Amino acid sequence: MTLEKSARWYEENKQFLAGGVSSDVRKAELPHPLYFESGSGSRIRDVDGNEYIDYVLGQGPLLLGHSPGPVLEAVHRQLDRGLVFAGQHQAEAELARLLTQAIPCAERVRFNSTGSEAVITALRAARAYRGRNLVVKFEGQWHGWYDSLFVSTAPGPTQQGDRSSPNPVLPSKGQVANAADNLVVMPWNDLELLEDLFARRGSEIAAILTEPVMCNSGSLMPRPGFLEGLRSLCDRYESVLIFDEVITGFRLALGGAQEIFGVTPDLATYAKGIASGFTLSAVVGKAEVMDLISSGQVVHAGTYNSNPVVIAAGLATLQTLTGDREAVYSHLNRLGGRLRDGLEERLRRAEVPALVGGLGPVVQVSLTDRQALHDYREWASRDDRTYQQLVTDLVYQGVRTTGRGTWYVSTAHTDADVDRTLDAFALVLEDFRISLRA
Ligand SMILES: Cc1ncc(COP(=O)(O)O)c(C=O)c1O
Repeated sequence: MTLEKSARWYEENKQFLAGGVSSDVRKAELPHPLYFESGSGSRIRDVDGNEYIDYVLGQGPLLLGHSPGPVLEAVHRQLDRGLVFAGQHQAEAELARLLTQAIPCAERVRFNSTGSEAVITALRAARAYRGRNLVVKFEGQWHGWYDSLFVSTAPGPTQQGDRSSPNPVLPSKGQVANAADNLVVMPWNDLELLEDLFARRGSEIAAILTEPVMCNSGSLMPRPGFLEGLRSLCDRYESVLIFDEVITGFRLALGGAQEIFGVTPDLATYAKGIASGFTLSAVVGKAEVMDLISSGQVVHAGTYNSNPVVIAAGLATLQTLTGDREAVYSHLNRLGGRLRDGLEERLRRAEVPALVGGLGPVVQVSLTDRQALHDYREWASRDDRTYQQLVTDLVYQGVRTTGRGTWYVSTAHTDADVDRTLDAFALVLEDFRISLRA
């Protein structure tokens, strides 16, 4: 097996395409950024003629797998009718209506193109609603790459500061120096520290922004009572609770994590699960907050928002997921569970210390001696170097997954895919042990 063409094209194209990629996250592909030619179902094919079982799934959006038929048909139909109207069409209202039925907190909906935009919109609405500036965000969570959101996503040990009051860390040069002035960064899953913070500054805090499951750093689960605790803090101090469901939305359940955990935020953002790879995101929430947008007091705009092509994709995705809702989610959960159990068993047999976690079709492997992981710093202490090598070796076995340890399963994945993946994983672990001993 060779990756020669990908490697060559990546190097050659750097002279035209800055850094050889269009999103810095893609530089992390192992063993180097690959060039792909096509994808269908659970499979993706590169330009060197290799086919992989794909657990990256576009970093999340391909919940129905690559190029799902019903979505493509709906999009093809729309392509003949028009691309961007800069005006209203009934399908966007229909999708909004369906979202209000599917998502517990959704009384009103606005569409954007990306997750980053949806989160920015939610923050603007929350700040306007409460007339306060401060927003609590958690260390290790990723809410997009805009200046005022791109803070402490993966801070290194020397940057982090004290655990009880982490430094706000700006990852990119060129972010305005005061980008984090209106954020308070906190460790996730620690209600006591948050109680303390709110006791001191509650009257300044407009919102708590959180991924309900920390998919971006270890797919960590909320401790029992944590999300409920956030809800009651927000109620007590009249702050807005925002769930960033960009990954969890439609993926863990149609209503997202808020449906699974039974905690209803005031606002929520959706993107990666809702349009099968088309650029559609949504901010949804309670009418009393969202109506600041309805009235125009909070301005929200975007040339490409809710263009009929992405809405057609969103509608077809929702219809596919709801068509046989029970079968869809039981397939996603069962396969995710099989993969989780199988990976765990192979790691145990190979005596590689690891925690295998996640929820439903989000599977997470973290190489660590710890018995449990609760926050970013605990997860960041894992053996990342060894894991990167495992992921690289898996590529050569025809399995593509992320270096962060997250594996996404789609409705297109099959039991045979999982069987093949587990065999490949066992093989890689065995080779690995031999090379470690040598
Ligand atoms: C939880 C979460 N929120 C927001 C975003 C930003 O979404 P986008 O990349 O579409 O701007 C991401 C992207 O990975 C995410 O994982």
